[in-house]
Amino acid sequence: MRARTLKDSKVVILGLGLIGGSIARGLSREKLCAGVWAVGRNETVLGEARNLGVLDGYSLDLRTVCSDADLIVLAVPGLSIAPLLLELAAFIGSRTIMTDVASVKSSTVDAARMAFGEVPANLVPGHPIAGSEKSGFAAANADLFRNKRVILTPLEQTAPEAVNLVTELWQSLGAEVLSMSVPHHDEVLAATSHLPHLLAYVLVDTLSRQGESEEIFRYAAGGFRDFTRIASSDPVMWRDIFLTNADATLSILDTFTEGLERMRQALVQGDGDYFLKTFTRAKSSRDKFMSLSASHVPTAPRTPGLEFLAEPGGRLSGAFRVPGDKSISHRAIMLGSIADGTTTVNGFLEGEDSLATLAAFRSMGVAIDGPEQGRVVIRGVGLRGLKAAAGPLYLGNSGTSMRLLCGLLAAQHFASTLTGDESLSRRPMQRVARPLADMGARIHLQEGGLAPVVIEPATLRPIHYAMPVASAQVKSCLLLASLYTEGRSVITEPAPCRDHTERMLEAFSYPISRHENRIEIEGGGILKAVPIDVPADISSAAFFMVGASISPDSDILLRHVGINPTRIGVINILNLMGADISYERESVAGAEPVADIRVRYAPLHGIDIPLDQVALAIDEFPAIFIAAACASGTTVLRGAEELRVKESDRIQAMADGLMALGIQVQVHADGLSVEGGQLRGGTIDSKGDHRIAMAFVMAALRASAPIRILDCHNVATSFPGFVELAAAAGVRLGQHEH
Ligand code: S3P
Repeated sequence: MRARTLKDSKVVILGLGLIGGSIARGLSREKLCAGVWAVGRNETVLGEARNLGVLDGYSLDLRTVCSDADLIVLAVPGLSIAPLLLELAAFIGSRTIMTDVASVKSSTVDAARMAFGEVPANLVPGHPIAGSEKSGFAAANADLFRNKRVILTPLEQTAPEAVNLVTELWQSLGAEVLSMSVPHHDEVLAATSHLPHLLAYVLVDTLSRQGESEEIFRYAAGGFRDFTRIASSDPVMWRDIFLTNADATLSILDTFTEGLERMRQALVQGDGDYFLKTFTRAKSSRDKFMSLSASHVPTAPRTPGLEFLAEPGGRLSGAFRVPGDKSISHRAIMLGSIADGTTTVNGFLEGEDSLATLAAFRSMGVAIDGPEQGRVVIRGVGLRGLKAAAGPLYLGNSGTSMRLLCGLLAAQHFASTLTGDESLSRRPMQRVARPLADMGARIHLQEGGLAPVVIEPATLRPIHYAMPVASAQVKSCLLLASLYTEGRSVITEPAPCRDHTERMLEAFSYPISRHENRIEIEGGGILKAVPIDVPADISSAAFFMVGASISPDSDILLRHVGINPTRIGVINILNLMGADISYERESVAGAEPVADIRVRYAPLHGIDIPLDQVALAIDEFPAIFIAAACASGTTVLRGAEELRVKESDRIQAMADGLMALGIQVQVHADGLSVEGGQLRGGTIDSKGDHRIAMAFVMAALRASAPIRILDCHNVATSFPGFVELAAAAGVRLGQHEH
């Protein structure tokens, strides 16, 4: 057999349905081969495909077009493969390579043996995992296989040249090609595809035969749709799949039936514990599966996705509560999970970042109910009760999840791998890995000190550590690791930074001593579950503080905002600039002080931002720079090099955005000088950074023309419902996906 490439191959597709038609469309659109021909039964479809330019030619007769084919793709239902192979065996020589797309590979191999006497070396059994409940050429789509998987099941005798050409075919259509043995393929598919289809068909059929079936379907909502989508698949194809893969399907069906029977008993006995355990396990497995598939995303090119369009002008008014504090939400899940007893959290932030932490702990065996309207119930497993997750923990965009988990997981008796999205995979992890290594941790980073982070089990010793940067994430990481040591750790911070971990440890009755910038903690204690009230996030409130301060006639009340002294840098800085911000109804929510914050418009002036406020306002500078652009005179920020390594390089991203809107800035290595002026309209690249996107939304209140903001999907990491809330408060804001 001579080696050949797809480019100079004549490809013949047998069967021009969804799969065959999609291959033909992909090949012809990109001109990937020397010619695309088809054989089918429906001449109207074949003629239409040729008129569309999808085919170079067709025939109703196999021999006419197949005898000089380089590659034949059998894209017919499983049971049609045997008769086709029999026909082909009569005239096909060894130079023609054949492959198929059937969902069951043992039946293709059996059919080939019957037809040819032995499985020929030029046949490569294959299966694209790219079905759809739609069928037929009309549904065919050149991109059907893009980013999908194709499993090839070559046998020992299969010729490498044949495998290469078939691999090239699928790769050129955008698929990832994997290889497996025939029996393994059929077992895996029976469990992951064939059984779910069987269940969906049976459920819909059973319900449709109930007396009031129309009534049932009329009220069937999302759950029914999600569960039964695949019952719309092609019945002939699925009949063939079950006839050809009966053994593997029966085996997994029996196991499933046992599970169903146990569930039935739990229903009879009202065994809520059994439900909760089963559902928690299942949910964690599914979340993990979804995050694993999501973890493919970083390698795919990032699309600008969600766009905001903010019309100029407007003023802010009304009383409202922004979502829960992100930092406190993370810590509530972490400490609640390793506490003894049940922790109920209210006001939890249902944003992607804190949900990533929640999913990670579920994956490590913690039963967590919710979140439901901000309420989460965590059944703590104690300091030593976490279990190894079945795969990597995917933490999305969340730096806090990754850095704090490094400390907690470095001390476990199991290994863990932490991964994140593109932005998180660019952020420095050495700052936690280095001191943890001094404690005896075995942590491996990628080149450049980046994620994925691989953590091996280790026994940690206490640390005395003077932090080189004022980072609450580093401090919290080390505090969590210290819980697992024998002895006393001492951590000192160069400047005060948020102390939610310390406060929450105290709330969980864990002894910790704090004097000025020195924190001491002894390992081996117990955390006692305690209810947590998460205040509204001052970092989210900050956008509205700035919005109200810069738009004349504004007057807003931000309810129940956390005013922890280590977080109020933004209020101090805005007040120094002349803002009118005051507290009402001050109180204490558990371990954290809160207040309603009143903000009224006031003309602002530029200032030199005091160095001691930098760490206390570290997340709020995007918003503060917008205030600076609307102030008279110059505002100067120095000593804030940390901004370069946030979700984006926030110094550069803000400088670029402000300049695009006609504001003069001077970029420093450790900060930015902003000259107040008139904001114009324009287009801003938020660089996928939630806070950059939200800051420029507020800029529109004082801009002379619309501001379009790109790449805004990550606003959901910290502020779900931002667009709706900003619009209700008075920003003329819309969004669209493209
Ligand atoms: C956070 C600490 C800060 C902050 C981040 C949240 C926390 O990061 O910027 O958004 O929850 O501990 P650094 O510790 O890197 O300053």
